[in-house]
Amino acid sequence: MSTRPDQRTLRLALAVSTRAPSANNTQPWRWVSAAGALHLVADRTWQDGASGPDGHDVEISCGAALHHLGTALAALGVRTAISTAPSPTEPDHLAVVEVVGPHSPSAAELTMAGAISARRTERRPFSPDPVPADLLTTLRLRAERYGVLLTPVTGDVERHRFAVAVDHAAANPPLGSWAAADELSAGALLLLSTKGDGTADRVGAGQATSAVLLTATAMGLASCALSQPLADPRYRAEVSDRLLRRYRTPHLFLRIGYGLPAPAPPRTPRRPWSECYTELPEVALG
Ligand SMILES: Cc1cc2nc3c(=O)[nH]c(=O)nc-3n(C[C@H](O)[C@H](O)[C@H](O)COP(=O)(O)O)c2cc1C
Repeated sequence: MSTRPDQRTLRLALAVSTRAPSANNTQPWRWVSAAGALHLVADRTWQDGASGPDGHDVEISCGAALHHLGTALAALGVRTAISTAPSPTEPDHLAVVEVVGPHSPSAAELTMAGAISARRTERRPFSPDPVPADLLTTLRLRAERYGVLLTPVTGDVERHRFAVAVDHAAANPPLGSWAAADELSAGALLLLSTKGDGTADRVGAGQATSAVLLTATAMGLASCALSQPLADPRYRAEVSDRLLRRYRTPHLFLRIGYGLPAPAPPRTPRRPWSECYTELPEVALG
């Protein structure tokens, strides 16, 4: 890093970033400290049948970790410059994070960072209370910062088609447990999409996913990311044709709503940050 934070701050931020959501909770990323910067690298050893036809869930999960890291560093008083997809010849080298100096975190940044430990994937049924339109607008604007469109799926036919796709995915689960279709009727259903389907689009979709989920958490909303139905190429094409116009590449559905009164779901475990971190010899931490 050009102006490196102290070792403790960096390690704390890396530990916090492990809380990012990832497909099947695989944490498919690696942080490499080299040449004065932190490099985000996709770890394809965690790619599997649940990652979509070409493993795009890996890149989306990496983007979520990138946003979590930036959020944590901002709250810890570190200003960063983040560039995505810096290396066309190395497709798994997804982003570079450089420290550019000290930072005075805003109240909003501290709230976002606070939401990291509170956020959980909520797969239980939601309350029928609708999400107010102004909150949905806030979420849409958060996604737009990353070049990502957030489209509410409101039509009865489209929501039914989504429920059918979830049922189909649940009947053929490669891994893990998925939300059941009959639990999907309440809450807002939002689709994240981008204009293109390059690496930067996917990483941006992941950054937007993290930004939207943390914002929703801070607003007291429950949330669940769902990509599994989009692993079916026919449903993917259908979604693109029926729901999207200019931003035609669908990446992920997000269910957002109010949870029913119940204890929060337990925190899912994570591999320690050090297992996803490599320090190249010429750059020592701290
Ligand atoms: C790209 C992506 C795709 C996901 N797809 C699904 C899904 O299809 N179904 C599901 O139940 N959860 C899905 N999740 C949620 C993860 O399973 C969840 O983030 C992970 O298990 C960690 O749990 P946590 O979010 O409670 O921390 C997805 C998350 C990401 C980032």
